[in-house]
Parts: sequence; C-alpha cells; structure tokens
Amino acid sequence: MKSSIKSIAVFTSGGDAPGMNAAVRAVVRTGIYSGLKVFGIMRGYEGLIDDEIIDMDSRSVSNIIHRGGTILKTARSKRFMTDEGMKLAYENIKKHNIDAVIALGGDGTFRGAVEFNKTYDVPFIGLPCTIDNDLYGTDNTIGYDTAINTAMEAIDKIRDTADSHNRLFFIEVMGRDAGFIAMRSGIATGAEAILIPESPLSIDQLINKLERGWQRKKSSGIVVIAEGEEEGGAFEVARKVKEKFNHYDTRVSVIGHMQRGGNPTCQDRVLASRLGMAAVEAVMEGKSNVMVGVIHHSIVYTPFSKATKHNLELSPYLMKLAVVLST
Ligand code: F6P
Repeated sequence: MKSSIKSIAVFTSGGDAPGMNAAVRAVVRTGIYSGLKVFGIMRGYEGLIDDEIIDMDSRSVSNIIHRGGTILKTARSKRFMTDEGMKLAYENIKKHNIDAVIALGGDGTFRGAVEFNKTYDVPFIGLPCTIDNDLYGTDNTIGYDTAINTAMEAIDKIRDTADSHNRLFFIEVMGRDAGFIAMRSGIATGAEAILIPESPLSIDQLINKLERGWQRKKSSGIVVIAEGEEEGGAFEVARKVKEKFNHYDTRVSVIGHMQRGGNPTCQDRVLASRLGMAAVEAVMEGKSNVMVGVIHHSIVYTPFSKATKHNLELSPYLMKLAVVLST
C-alpha cells in the first residue's frame, strides 16, 4: 500500500542523551531514502511553537553520528502544555505541510504528544532518548549505555583514590526517578552499597552493611546513590551516616551532567541508527502515538501511554546480584 505521508519533521526534546545525533541522522537519511521531505525542528516543542523549522538534507547530518549533544538543540517546554502553545504548534505543522512528527526524548516528550493528540490529529512516533533508561517498551534507551560507561569510568577513578586514602566515598549519579544508572554503574564498579528510589535502603540498613564491611577489614568503600533516592542525595546520606558510623574518613562526589555528554558508545550509535530507521518505517506504515524500541533484539512499538516511566521495573535479579557480590 502506498503511504500518504510525504513529509516528516524530527526534533529532540527533554534532557539530551548521547546518541540523539545518530538518531537524527538515521531519521533524516531514511526519510530522504524513502522519498520524503524532511524538516528539523529546533529546541523541541519550543521551536515548533516559535516556527524554528529548517529543511534537512543528507549533508545536514554529515559527521554527527559520533557527537554527543544534539545539533537540533533541546528544551523542556512548559508552553507546549498550554492550549495557546499547542495551537501555535499545530498552525506551524500545517504551514509547513508536515504530515508526521518524529519525537526524540523521554517520558515528558511523549506525554506532550499524547496531550496534543487529544485535540489535534497529527501522527507522532517516539524514539526513546534518555540517559535514565526509565521507559517501558525498550531494553535500553538511547544514551543509557554511554551514561553508565561514563559513570563507571568516573567511579573507577574515585575507587583508586578511595583505596589510597582508606576512605569511604558517597557518589551521586543521575536518575531523578530511576535507579538504572546507579544500579548498573554500582554493580560494574563493585560498590559496597547502591541506593536507588525503586528499593529504598534506610540509613540504619546502610550503616549495618558498612559495619559488616568494616568488620571484614574493608579499608575503603564506595556507596553509589541515585540522584532521586529518598534519603536526600549523596551529601545528605553522607551526613546521616557519619552521625552514627564514623570509622572511615568520608568524601562526597557528585558526577553530574558529564553523564549526559560525550561521544556515544558503539551500542548507542547502533541502537539510535536502528530506531531512527524503524521510526520512519512506522510513520510510512501509518502508525501513530507509539514509541519504537528494541526488546530481545527485535523492533517493537509501544503506545506512548504505556511507555512512560512508571511502568518499568528494575530487575530484582540485578538488585540481588548487587547485594550478593558486595558482601
Ligand atoms: O535527562 C535525565 C536527567 O539527566 C535526570 O537524570 C536528571 O534528574 C535530569 O535530567 C536533570 O535535568 P536538567 O539538569 O537538564 O534540568
């Protein structure tokens, strides 16, 4: 069946994620290969409202597959959640004769598309781009693999100095509502404890764990803490622990936004390329309001309403692994 789609637009939205550029490249090149007119929208929904819409061709995505950040820039748009913002966005979609939009982002981005589609009928296809990995409907989000490797390398370096000085380090990694980065990077660096929002560990439980390590002659240690865990972040956890357990000299390190940047890993580049192509194919097949993901090596499409973060659970197996191997 011949597709009615003649033109598409692509944008990046929300927190940037390494691999976004590779995904933009894949969307643009697959679109052109398929005979479509391709537009780029700058700064996500903000650029859609402000008519920052540019023509894309094969050359506009040259030499970006390896670059972190996003050439289309990104933003978190409050205006798009208003009636006025959505109306302006729709008018610009019509003005440029855009038949479908490919949105690269996380749960906020997809929630925006769902709201928009309650009033306006424009097909949206989503690509999961967030370092947090907190979307249901894909084994990995684009950017997650790079971020966990960045966190791992940073923690490895801190481990060296912790060991030299016999210190206990509290290290905060990103993940506002999700502990995926903390869990993976913690396991990969042999952390003594990992604190995540999904399975809270009380300060007393943490101290018991550290106490047992002390008794088994651990001379230094690493506690990895997800930004969103409920005791209040690395500084707060360190303060609370020190009040009751003072055997170690302690330090705090917040890894921060370096986890959002840098050249994407091979895995993220290939995932982004695959999903970018699949997104264009989905548009041409008439799909709408779905996120494209990869589960067990196969492309799958998940409705936006299901893909948003609260449906995803951290593997109990990984949680057990972290506990067993840190004894
Ligand atoms: O993109 C996800 C994320 O990095 C979260 O892990 C973090 O809480 C948040 O974005 C920080 O966002 P920003 O500093 O861009 O407001």
